[in-house]
Amino acid sequence: MKVLIVGAGGREHALAWKCAAAARVTEVLVAPGNAGTAREPKVRNVPVGAQDIEALAQLASAERVDLTIIGPEGPLVAGIVDTFAARGLKCFGPRRAPAQLEGSKAYTKEFLRRHGIPTARSRTFTHGNFDAAWVRAQRAPLVVKASGLAAGKGVVIADTTEVAVTTAQAMFAGQFGVAGNEVVVEEFLAGEEASFIVMADGVHILPLATSQDHKRLRDADEGPNTGGMGAYSPAPVVTPTLHARIMREVIEPSIRGLAADGMPYTGFLYAGIMIAPDGTPNVLEFNCRLGDPETQPLLMRLKSDLTLLCEAALAGGLGAVSAEWDPRCALGVVMAAAGYPDAARKGDAIIGLDDAARLPGKIFHAGTKLAGDQVVTDGGRVLCAVGLGVDVRAAQHEAYALADTVRWPGAQLRRDIGFRAIRRGS
Ligand code: AMP
Ligand code: GLY
Repeated sequence: MKVLIVGAGGREHALAWKCAAAARVTEVLVAPGNAGTAREPKVRNVPVGAQDIEALAQLASAERVDLTIIGPEGPLVAGIVDTFAARGLKCFGPRRAPAQLEGSKAYTKEFLRRHGIPTARSRTFTHGNFDAAWVRAQRAPLVVKASGLAAGKGVVIADTTEVAVTTAQAMFAGQFGVAGNEVVVEEFLAGEEASFIVMADGVHILPLATSQDHKRLRDADEGPNTGGMGAYSPAPVVTPTLHARIMREVIEPSIRGLAADGMPYTGFLYAGIMIAPDGTPNVLEFNCRLGDPETQPLLMRLKSDLTLLCEAALAGGLGAVSAEWDPRCALGVVMAAAGYPDAARKGDAIIGLDDAARLPGKIFHAGTKLAGDQVVTDGGRVLCAVGLGVDVRAAQHEAYALADTVRWPGAQLRRDIGFRAIRRGS
């Protein structure tokens, strides 16, 4: 069996590593991949960009790829699954229409409202119908969101209504390009966030293990928002009762609602949930893909063959399979480049990777590339060091031992990944 992974981040390195571990998989191609996938046994990088759908379809045909898994949202929202399906190529992910759940926050808010799924109260505006007076009449803080894809940067928490107005106006003026043609203004929700990720086959749902991300740059959740500075699984905040509630109140009505709307959802579906003090699971956002860095600890715990699960989903048979998880905790610490999340510095030599490879746990690469034999930084989030342990503390210990073996000038990492679970006594 030949597998193609589309993307270049830590999530894609973990996907490639996991698929390559299956005995029936002979080779995993990654387009375009990074230095980590370049060095992974049974894995080969192919220099095709993740947005080049036509070239990816040609690659999958020419290489007789049996299964393609899409990492990032860009190609999904642009319709890569539709293109592959039209050519008889198996590709795991949602089609263009249901991928709007991530591609358009305006669409998602309307979808959630129509199907009675809990979410923050909001209004959607265009430049033409923006109602500044309404915004000024709300209670601050407010959350202002560019509706389209903005590489994780399109969400602003405005401490005053005046900031909310100017933020929306900047978005209409093109701060995030066409992503800001529509702007969602919503109430700020307090609570604890969790990442709830499932696989779906249009009808059936297979929930993956729970996880929690750390979005802020610095310890104690301070500093600017990032793509995610670390994650662990399982997330003890998602108790069995809450798990059942999220399935019943969020995931099941979403999958049913999409099917009823004529756009059945096949693929990974990621619900970013804000758990209210009374336990209400409010949807902050949907992603039409796996999370990054959640995937790295998740796949460290997945014992089942991921390619079998994806094939089952593509055949409509997710109801007949289950996923087996390592009962231990996995925890991933992201190491980011100097300057991240604004302008990340590139080209720094990364020292210590060979020593780290002799330690327990696993380092997944994200923004790295090979310069000759040397691995150098090539993006904002550079590595994710993942440890396993009987509890969060033990997993944390293993992850930081790995991370501390690796260095380059200006590397940034949080020292407190997993603090919420530890505070809870897990
Ligand atoms: P999103 O891309 O919509 O998930 O937003 C990015 C981050 O902004 C989320 O992970 C939350 O931390 C925060 N956020 C988004 N919407 C809200 C909200 N309504 N209330 C509080 N925080 C929010
Ligand atoms: N870690 C958050 C995301 O993947 O969107």
